[in-house]
Amino acid sequence: MKKVLVTGGAGFIGSHLVDTLVRNGSEVVVIDDLHPSAHRGRPDYLNPSARYVWANVGDVSTLDETLSGVDTVYHLAALLGMVESQRDPVSFVRDNGLATATLLDRVGRMSRRIERFVVASSNTVYGEGPAQCARCSTVVLPGLRDPAALAKKQWEVLCPRCHGPVERKATPEEHPLRPASVYGLTKRDQEELSLLLLPPLGIPTIALRFFNVYGPRQSPTNPYAGVISIFRGKLLAGDRPPVYEDGMQTRDFVSVHDVVSALLLSGTRNGLPSQAINVGSGVPTPVLKVAEEVIRLSKQDVAPLILNTHRSVDIRHSFADISRARSVLGYAPKVSLEEGLSELFSGSTPG
Ligand SMILES: NC(=O)c1ccc[n+]([C@@H]2O[C@H](COP(=O)([O-])OP(=O)(O)OC[C@H]3O[C@@H](n4cnc5c(N)ncnc54)[C@H](O)[C@@H]3O)[C@@H](O)[C@H]2O)c1
Ligand SMILES: [Zn+2]
Repeated sequence: MKKVLVTGGAGFIGSHLVDTLVRNGSEVVVIDDLHPSAHRGRPDYLNPSARYVWANVGDVSTLDETLSGVDTVYHLAALLGMVESQRDPVSFVRDNGLATATLLDRVGRMSRRIERFVVASSNTVYGEGPAQCARCSTVVLPGLRDPAALAKKQWEVLCPRCHGPVERKATPEEHPLRPASVYGLTKRDQEELSLLLLPPLGIPTIALRFFNVYGPRQSPTNPYAGVISIFRGKLLAGDRPPVYEDGMQTRDFVSVHDVVSALLLSGTRNGLPSQAINVGSGVPTPVLKVAEEVIRLSKQDVAPLILNTHRSVDIRHSFADISRARSVLGYAPKVSLEEGLSELFSGSTPG
């Protein structure tokens, strides 16, 4: 029986991973500090067959005891939220960056080598996705959007050469890493620290860059961790779902069930070389369309509230090129957005 450590295993993605690991016969131990930004006390969905250590990943004495005998580590613990990270960079650097360095240091000092380390990274490490000019074919790698253009409510990035419209492309792993928030920066730190420190010790390490994950158990209190949860929460409170800009910005929504399958493949497939791998659906969806779909499934007769304003941490377009996940992991997303949303609203599990 394999012994597996899941950090952040009381959270949204971690708890689904724990359920599957337990079902597959692993011995599972969780480290989670039940951070108040993610939880109001202990969630009721915790798997009774896992062992829970209620501590911060940066706590050395707890780590050494918990890591003993562990074969595989899934490191999912992190503070989430781009806007929050701008307001409180110290907590994000400490709980995401420094805590990860501490975990990696203790893993590196274990007398018995672990077999695999899998770390949750994020699409926010990229910033804007790539594009190509529809007119002059120039390849565009947009940085942060121009504040002057945003002030004029010009949301789309234009071709820097001919100012024509650009066509957005899927983001491959080679795309430059230019996070637009402190959160994205700490996710980059988590993955780069892991890929720098563990492979030289002979520990294969996989950093999974999750795009916008959604599904049951996602906290509605953590803005942007889940726009779908936020839209739902607003409707339940009798408010219209608020949409920034004109709503035509796109995101790649991936079901938590597909994310768990990518995590398991990363933790168990033989002979995987250490690397970063995108995990998404590969499909760009306008945020406005998601708001309309959530309203429809909530059976409410309201329209989304289009705010026509910009948040500094928001990019315009991002969707995953998942060819590496397909070829290296054998990953194939199975849950369409329609199926995943109806699971959320009906409680049925997509087959
Ligand atoms: N949800 C998404 O759309 C998404 C997208 C990209 C990446 N990710 C990454 O996936 C991972 C899991 O995210 P989630 O959506 O399940 O979030 P979540 O907030 O539901 O879960 C994170 C868990 O980690 C715990 N935690 C946070 N900092 C900790 C620390 N220093 N020590 C111990 N426990 C700590 C929290 O209490 C929480 O239970 C995170 O690393 C996140 O950055 C999530
Ligand atoms: Zn052009």
